Amino acid sequence: MGKLDGRVVLITGAARGQGEQEARLFVAEGAKVVLTDVLDDQGEALAKELGEGSAVYVRLDVRQEADWIAAVAAAKRAFGKIDGLVNNAGILRFNELVNTPLEEFQQVVQVNQVGAFLGIRTVAPEIEAAGGGTIVNTASYTALTGMAFVGAYAATKHAVLGLTRVAAVELAAKKIRVNAVCPGAVDTPMTNPAALDPAADPVESGAAVDELYRKLVPMGRIGRPQEVAALALFLTGDDSSYITGQPFVVDGGWLAGVSLF
Ligand SMILES: NC(=O)c1ccc[n+]([C@@H]2O[C@H](COP(=O)([O-])OP(=O)(O)OC[C@H]3O[C@@H](n4cnc5c(N)ncnc54)[C@H](O)[C@@H]3O)[C@@H](O)[C@H]2O)c1
Repeated sequence: MGKLDGRVVLITGAARGQGEQEARLFVAEGAKVVLTDVLDDQGEALAKELGEGSAVYVRLDVRQEADWIAAVAAAKRAFGKIDGLVNNAGILRFNELVNTPLEEFQQVVQVNQVGAFLGIRTVAPEIEAAGGGTIVNTASYTALTGMAFVGAYAATKHAVLGLTRVAAVELAAKKIRVNAVCPGAVDTPMTNPAALDPAADPVESGAAVDELYRKLVPMGRIGRPQEVAALALFLTGDDSSYITGQPFVVDGGWLAGVSLF
């Protein structure tokens, strides 16, 4: 018996990183998964690997309302219903607030914040029609505290928590639970873009990442995307049946405080 037997979950940004690991774990736990992303080749290859009966890939740019409507229709054609959503797609831009171009700020808002809003608004009625289910929003450590040079990102992740709380209150009577994961630093292309650069030395860039997080994080290491997927599984499955409207931090102790040595 899997923890998600009989469930159909749509995951955004599922072609790589945390979304990919969520898709892999959810399928291993019996779910049917609708993988969505703008990285079509990677998304399609992952769906193929996971198997036709378990996964389907649909292109979904989370900023586009029409894409959401088409993805829901495709999901229902493939698996008959949707009773879970993981709003995972996101982008990060580094800039001092006073030097952040308006266009860049709005770009981050469109993906991280508008994308999560459109996801909740489009998919919640489908989950209700399926008899209830779950929404997991991907916030961040920076939804709960500040961090220099990620002003646009932190603002959108704080907003995702606001959306999570309001959605939880409004959707509880419809048997939809809504929670948020708040990862600290996790080893994906977002935190280590050098991993995607064929010209970069993977050993060197990996060592730089290890050294940074050895000092910053009490547990002394960066997180693995599988560790965020495990939390998303908990919040999507029945083990969290009485939990809604909450942020869950998965950060190796980073938010707990600073260490002196
Ligand atoms: N990696 C971290 O340290 C970390 C920490 C906290 C929160 N997060 C959040 O976790 C989520 C996943 O990030 P990740 O670390 O796996 O990074 P990632 O860059 O590997 O994955 C993000 C995915 O989102 C997709 N995406 C980007 N723009 C999109 C759009 N407009 N429409 C649809 N898909 C789009 C990308 O193609 C990619 O597949 C993000 O919301 C991110 O903000 C990551």
